[in-house]
Amino acid sequence: MTKTAFITGVTSGIGEAAARRFVKGGWTVTGTGRRADRLDRLKGELGEALTPLALDMRGGDFDAVARDHGPVDLLINNAGLAPPMSDLQKADQAPLDTVIDTNIAGLVSLTRAMLPGLIERKGAVINLSSVAATYPYKGGAVYAGSKAFVRQFSFGLRCDLAGTGVRVTSIEPGMAETEFTVVRNGGDQAASDAFYAGTDPMTGEDIAETLWWVATLPPHLNINALELMPVRQSWAGFAVTRES
Ligand SMILES: NC(=O)c1ccc[n+]([C@@H]2O[C@H](COP(=O)([O-])OP(=O)(O)OC[C@H]3O[C@@H](n4cnc5c(N)ncnc54)[C@H](OP(=O)(O)O)[C@@H]3O)[C@@H](O)[C@H]2O)c1
Repeated sequence: MTKTAFITGVTSGIGEAAARRFVKGGWTVTGTGRRADRLDRLKGELGEALTPLALDMRGGDFDAVARDHGPVDLLINNAGLAPPMSDLQKADQAPLDTVIDTNIAGLVSLTRAMLPGLIERKGAVINLSSVAATYPYKGGAVYAGSKAFVRQFSFGLRCDLAGTGVRVTSIEPGMAETEFTVVRNGGDQAASDAFYAGTDPMTGEDIAETLWWVATLPPHLNINALELMPVRQSWAGFAVTRES
C-alpha cells in the first residue's frame, strides 16, 4: 500500500526537499505552509502525489486537519523559524512569541491530533530539532530553547508511545543553507549569503535524504536522535568574562 507522509513547512528548504524525496520514493505527501503560491508551485511539480494544505502552525483546528488528512504513516514536524539574533534583554517580544507558538505550541497541537492515526498505522514521527538544542550560543536563547523542547518532547513522546509500534526521532542539524537565515534576518538575502559564504553548508536535500533514511529503516529500529553538521562547522569554547 502507498505510504503517506504529512510534512509541515514544504514551501521552502528542508520541508520542500523532503516532499520531493518522499514523492520520489513512491509515497504520497500532504505538505503544509502559509505561502499558497509556493504550495501551488510545488503541486505543479509533484502533481497527484502532493496534497497541498495552507496551514499556519500558530493555531488553527488541528483536530479537523487530522480528520481530513489522516491517518498517515509519517508526521514530519519541520515547520519552524528563528527570531533575529539578539540578547534577550534587547529583544522585541513579538518575534519570540511567533517562534514559541510555531516551534513549540503548534508542533505539540498538531502531533497530539495526528497521534491516533499514527498509532493505527504503527507510523513514525520525525521532529526537526537543531544542534542548538544541545549547544547554546549568544543571541539564540529562545530558538535554542524551542529546539531543546522539541528534542526532549521527542524522547517523552517515545515513552508515551511505548508498545504502540510508533517510532519517534529528533533530527538535529547544524548549518543548512535554506531560507532559514533569510527569515532570521527579516528577509535580508545578502545577510544570509554572507553567513553561509565559504562554509560549504549542508543543504535541504542533505537533510531530506536523512529523513528518508530514518523513515525507511526496518520497523524494529528507532533512531532516537541524530546530529548532523557540515564539516566546516564545529563548536566554540566557553565564554568567560573577567573583571577589568
Ligand atoms: N537551516 C538550518 O540551518 C536548520 C538547522 C537546524 C534546524 N532547522 C530546522 O529545520 C526546520 C526547517 O527549516 P529550514 O531550514 O528548511 O527553513 P526555511 O527554508 O525557512 O523553511 C521553513 C518552513 O517552515 C514554514 N513555517 C514557518 N513558520 C510557519 C508557520 N507559522 N506556519 C506554518 N509554516 C511555517 C515555512 O513556510 P511558510 O513561510 O510558507 O509558512 C517554511 O516552509 C525548522 O524547524 C528549523 O528550525 C534548520
